[in-house]
Amino acid sequence: MARVMLTGASSGLGAAMARRFAERGDHLLLVARRRPLLEELQAELLGEGASHVEHRVVDLAHESQVQQLVNDLPELGVDVLINNAACGHWDYSWDTTPERMRYMIAVNVSAVAVLSVAFSQINHLKPARLMNVASGAGYALFEGSIPYSASKFFVTALTEGIARELSSQKHAMRSQLLAPGPMATEFGASAMDGSKMDRTDASGVQFHTAAEVAEFAMQLFDSDATVGAVQPDMSFALSGGRHPVGQLLDAAW
Ligand SMILES: NC(=O)c1ccc[n+]([C@@H]2O[C@H](COP(=O)([O-])OP(=O)(O)OC[C@H]3O[C@@H](n4cnc5c(N)ncnc54)[C@H](OP(=O)(O)O)[C@@H]3O)[C@@H](O)[C@H]2O)c1
Repeated sequence: MARVMLTGASSGLGAAMARRFAERGDHLLLVARRRPLLEELQAELLGEGASHVEHRVVDLAHESQVQQLVNDLPELGVDVLINNAACGHWDYSWDTTPERMRYMIAVNVSAVAVLSVAFSQINHLKPARLMNVASGAGYALFEGSIPYSASKFFVTALTEGIARELSSQKHAMRSQLLAPGPMATEFGASAMDGSKMDRTDASGVQFHTAAEVAEFAMQLFDSDATVGAVQPDMSFALSGGRHPVGQLLDAAW
């Protein structure tokens, strides 16, 4: 039985992953901003026999609230951290306002970085698990969502990098990266909010459901792989990592 803290648990993939971990009898701490949705999910999971579910309202865009979560990590005794919460914005880079940029960096980059590192400091010698959720846009650039893509490149590099350090130092903790493709969740609509782009014709795009991607997440979690990524043909592939790795004394430096 693990103690799992899951950010972005109030909707979409986060809620779907919470259902999967609850089925296994794991203890859950659900984190997001929308209290009513967290309460609803908590009641649903407990009603279906989950052993222990708590929730915590946190706005990950607020540095002080992230720091409070970090301060409480030892006491919470979490041994699985899933950084899933994120926001996107679909626009050309030059039409992305400074406010949107700052917000996206706060939630997608700063909060993930601070929580990942704090969790690793506490747990690197234990058989604990960090799983960060990025995107196919964390390995390839998609025009019309470049700042989002850049924020997810940060997440893929950080997560794969921590995995390498843990492995080379032979520490017990593991770090894994989940890279979904398009998913039918609230995400697309909120990413279009205030956008100048016309994305009304999305007929060529194929979407997974959140439940399908939660199944991929469990496949990754149960594997020795570092990266689990949805492929352009919608299949799911596990691998040891996708970023090139440099050597400190490499001549290319
Ligand atoms: N949907 C896609 O097409 C797609 C594709 C590839 C990757 N992804 C990634 O998959 C993950 C899950 O996305 P999703 O599709 O499930 O999106 P979603 O339904 O919009 O869920 C996003 C979650 O993040 C939480 N969140 C957002 N801002 C927050 C903040 N400031 N503080 C705390 N929580 C916050 C939201 O909760 P509250 O609003 O209650 O705070 C919500 O629970 C994200 O990392 C996303 O980048 C999504």
